[in-house]
Parts: sequence; C-alpha cells; structure tokens
Amino acid sequence: MATLTTFKTSNDLPMDVRGHMITLLNQNLADMSDLYSQTKQAHWNVKGRNFIALHELFDKLAGEVIGYVDDIAERTTELGGYATGTNRMSASASRVSEYPTEAVEGMEHVSALVERYALVAKNVRAAINIATEAGDADTADLLTEISRDMDKWVWFLEAHLQA
Ligand SMILES: [Fe+2]
Repeated sequence: MATLTTFKTSNDLPMDVRGHMITLLNQNLADMSDLYSQTKQAHWNVKGRNFIALHELFDKLAGEVIGYVDDIAERTTELGGYATGTNRMSASASRVSEYPTEAVEGMEHVSALVERYALVAKNVRAAINIATEAGDADTADLLTEISRDMDKWVWFLEAHLQA
C-alpha cells in the first residue's frame, strides 16, 4: 500500500515513528485536499445577496487550505514517506462528506463549510496528540499551527450564523 511506502532517509526519527506519522499525515492530506476542492466549489457556486463577500472569503480560505495541503504532503516526504495526494487518492481516503450540490444561497454554503471545517479542525487537533505521543514534536508543531488557523476559519465562517 502506497501510504506505507518508506524511502531510505538520513532523518533520525525511528522508523516506526516515521511510519506512524506518514500514515497520519496522509490521512490529513486527504481530508485537507478534499476540503480545498470543496471550498473552491463554494467559491464558484455561491449566489445571493452576500455573493461578493462570500465569493472572496471562500477563495481566501481555499488559498490558506492549499498551503496546508502542501505543508502536510512535504512533511510526509521529509519523513521518507510517499505522499498520496492526487484528487482520486484524496477523495477515496477523505473523511469529509461530499459537498451538497443543493447548496445555492450564501448561508447554505456557509453551513456546509462550517460543518466540514469543524470536522477537519477536530481531526487535526486529535492528530496533534497522536504526533506528540509518538514522539514527533515537529509534526505536532506543524499540525498545531494548522489547528490554530482552522479554529480561526471555523470562526470566520460561523460568525455569519451566530447573530
Ligand atoms: Fe476564482
């Protein structure tokens, strides 16, 4: 299985730790890559009174999320792993539900994204603990940075629904 492929590396983390992290990172890569394409889906298809604000917000979020995709994939390969990051690989491994095609009006897209960003935020937070317990402080640090951002994006989206 590709996610378990490890290459010879001079990185000093023990192989079992690297193997564990490669699996963890590839799972989060799949989720994040799926979240990226779904955020673009919202960016393209949103309609209604708040069109321009939401169209631009969704694009900003997609731009941030694609950065996490790259960082997570590169951490995987730094550890000697094989990053499983094509659209098909990501879609088949993602824990995020498919985007609702019935969403049209702004708040329908916001609700769909809140649900998905909150799920990914929860899973990234859980991954921090897994990386810490495994003994990979750098993966934990990368995930912590992403987690802090994800909490912010959940807020940015959810604030539309809180008043
Ligand atoms: Fe665009």
